[in-house]
Amino acid sequence: MSTTIAVSGHGFIPYEVVVGRGLLDRLGERIRPLVPGRLVVISDETVAAIYGPAALASLEAAGLKARILTVPPGEASKSFAELERVIDRLLAYELDRRDTVIALGGGVIGDLAGLAAALYMRGIDFIQVPTTLLAQVDSSVGGKTAIDTPRGKNLVGAFHQPRLVVADIDVLATLPDRQLRSGWAEVLKHGLICDRPFFDWLLGDGAVGAAGDPAALERAVIRSVEIKSAIVGEDEREAGRRALLNLGHTFGHALEAELGFDETVLTHGEAVALGCALAFRFSVTLGLCPAEDATRVVAGLAAAGLPTELVTAGTFAAGALVTRMAGDKKAEGGRLTLVLARGIGAAFVQRDVDPEQLLAFLREQGAS
Ligand code: NAD
Ligand code: GLY
Repeated sequence: MSTTIAVSGHGFIPYEVVVGRGLLDRLGERIRPLVPGRLVVISDETVAAIYGPAALASLEAAGLKARILTVPPGEASKSFAELERVIDRLLAYELDRRDTVIALGGGVIGDLAGLAAALYMRGIDFIQVPTTLLAQVDSSVGGKTAIDTPRGKNLVGAFHQPRLVVADIDVLATLPDRQLRSGWAEVLKHGLICDRPFFDWLLGDGAVGAAGDPAALERAVIRSVEIKSAIVGEDEREAGRRALLNLGHTFGHALEAELGFDETVLTHGEAVALGCALAFRFSVTLGLCPAEDATRVVAGLAAAGLPTELVTAGTFAAGALVTRMAGDKKAEGGRLTLVLARGIGAAFVQRDVDPEQLLAFLREQGAS
């Protein structure tokens, strides 16, 4: 059994996101109609060791010619150096424009392989096979691809939509618990943006998903993809509504940057969770959101083992955080833009946030 969600919008070829169980073993037969040439599976060493053999066996069983190319696991692989190495390998394999890249891994692999596919011969097809919860609910859908530079994360990239996304819930069974919970933060984020009943379910019967229950995970991934794909379909290039997907991210990025993007201290998902808690509390401070909604958001995040208090994540200077937030690439000409909320399920983009109010709020939250 699987569920298919269609993603369509102006300016890109429509594609499907297939969510279900046991999908990796049938990957070859599913993708064969889309693939006229050869395949290169790009993965990280950890994922390749666990799922590479099954993926290759399935492709070969469907009569597809495939080889695998691995990079070291971790954010450091989203670099110019690794991108150059990957593209050099694709050239050495003499891939042509009929050939296809498969991204088998988490968001790091999706972003790196997607960008390599966008650049190779001015763009070849790629298929996303996301293996982290974060990648299944967020990064594999929507066509954002990027690498980092020493000046910041995701600063060099392209919009390049995949031809297909295959999200196999079963592969989440080997994901470390902390990674699963980090992905859960993005699931909760989707409810907070625009679907209060979904958020209620995530805090109720669906809460077992954060501990790895496959049925709850499947439903959470399906609803998250429905929400994200509807938003991306309306606004691929983030001219408007897509910015809502950044709920918790402007606060979160500032915290990650201040901590030197040290995933052992704060993962991206944990930063988003804390960012969501701060966005709701700040919305209350500004008189935009009922206090009980912020309380419920914080309780829901905490129940999933996610951080909600600034002071538990580290020691921060309020001024440094505001400077980072004003410099966020979503900010326009230094004008502070934040995703805030009128309540659970009612996020909106607030431009021209007053830096003094934000500074005072962050101090109340424990920043110096
Ligand atoms: P990741 O890709 O680094 O994966 C996390 C870790 O889990 C890695 O060590 C990986 O080897 C391991 N792993 C992956 N799947 C596994 C599995 N099934 N079993 C065991 N181990 C597994 O990290 P991530 O959290 O998936 O992605 C983070 C990246 O995604 C960041 O670079 C972020 O910028 C990017 N991102 C992109 C978008 C987008 O729209 N393009 C959206 C959100 C995040
Ligand atoms: N992760 C935010 C976006 O895809 O727009």
